[in-house]
Amino acid sequence: MTSDSHNDAGFDLDQVDRLLTTTRSVRKRLDFDRDVPDRVIFDCIDLAEQAPSGGNDASRRWIVIKDEATKRKLGEIYARNGEFMINVADRLEGSGHGKEKVFSSSAYLVENFAKAPALVIAAIWGIHDNSGRPGLFDSVIQSAWSFNLALRSRGLGSTWTTLLNASVDELAGILGIPDGITTIVTFPVAYTKGTEFKPAARRQAEQITYFDRWGFTKARASEDGGVNFEDGLGVVAEVDIEATPRKVWPFISDIEFPVDASEELQGAAWNGEARGLGATFTGHNKLGDMEWSIENHVTDYVEGRVFEWGTVDPANPGGRWRFEIMDQGVGSRLRFSMEIGTENNLTIGFAEASENPVAVINGRRKQIRSNMQRTCDAIKAAVEAAN
Ligand SMILES: Cc1cc2nc3c(=O)[nH]c(=O)nc-3n(C[C@H](O)[C@H](O)[C@H](O)COP(=O)(O)O)c2cc1C
Repeated sequence: MTSDSHNDAGFDLDQVDRLLTTTRSVRKRLDFDRDVPDRVIFDCIDLAEQAPSGGNDASRRWIVIKDEATKRKLGEIYARNGEFMINVADRLEGSGHGKEKVFSSSAYLVENFAKAPALVIAAIWGIHDNSGRPGLFDSVIQSAWSFNLALRSRGLGSTWTTLLNASVDELAGILGIPDGITTIVTFPVAYTKGTEFKPAARRQAEQITYFDRWGFTKARASEDGGVNFEDGLGVVAEVDIEATPRKVWPFISDIEFPVDASEELQGAAWNGEARGLGATFTGHNKLGDMEWSIENHVTDYVEGRVFEWGTVDPANPGGRWRFEIMDQGVGSRLRFSMEIGTENNLTIGFAEASENPVAVINGRRKQIRSNMQRTCDAIKAAVEAAN
């Protein structure tokens, strides 16, 4: 860092990061009573146009709707297409469900869309044909997001909305959009009521970033850029299940339940009556000619959501295994992850005995991940068959 608050690249990272982390979907805090000057919209579009486009073609087009009668017509379409949001919001009200707030907010926008002082549509010359050629969605989205960032930096806000896209012919009729143009997103634009917004809770990069191969994680940034056990090397397998988390939970929280398609794990049994955090169980494993049993300690347990255990020493386990169930649409996403501990004698032993430890480590990760994916797929099949 340089002496003032700017970094070596000349940016004030506090401000840049605040912009990047607090540009929220704004609905209930849009100020419908304050006009949005054309100048501000032009400025934000000029900034957004700095985004790249395939072939550097200047094919993006922006439609700004301020005419009250036209906004009303678009508002009617938005309300029709978004009616389900109002129903869902009503159903979720007071439930404490993870999506209660977003549906309440979305339903508000459904009822008030046309009140935004300006509706701004980002469009592009071209029709999506799945040809893989650049220039369509992928030439608009980055620019449309820059438009949002530019709005936020000037005290305005919006929400990325796609509900009008279900009625493109009607939209084209109202706005006179010719054939061959694709509308990607419509922004209800307004000044925001207050300018303080908070970062959203999101998954950490360490959980969703894979190094060198799908599903290969590391819990910590490596200091030397290499593949080191100290970095918390791991793997993750996931599957979407057509059942609520509540229905998935029994299949992951009872380790004696016979759903494990791993070729390595031969079975597991609780040690005693205890369940939940601190309970222990013994797993029986087989790998080639080797067979061994290992004691596991439940190290995290959130009823209906999280079941995690560590092998041998819970404070410093040889491996940390974790099932997590998340809401995904009306169903669930099951995430099964594991981190190889620095006390993992098996993998470390193999790696140290080899001339190419990285290949051994990654070979072992491939093997473990494949077993974990098989287990996820088997759980999916069992849960869906039972429901
Ligand atoms: C592709 C896409 C389409 C969306 N469509 C709508 C929409 O039609 N209506 C709406 O109210 N929100 C829409 N959203 C916003 C999301 O529902 C969600 O609220 C938002 O991403 C989360 O809020 P946050 O950005 O403040 O974290 C859309 C977002 C994306 C990325």
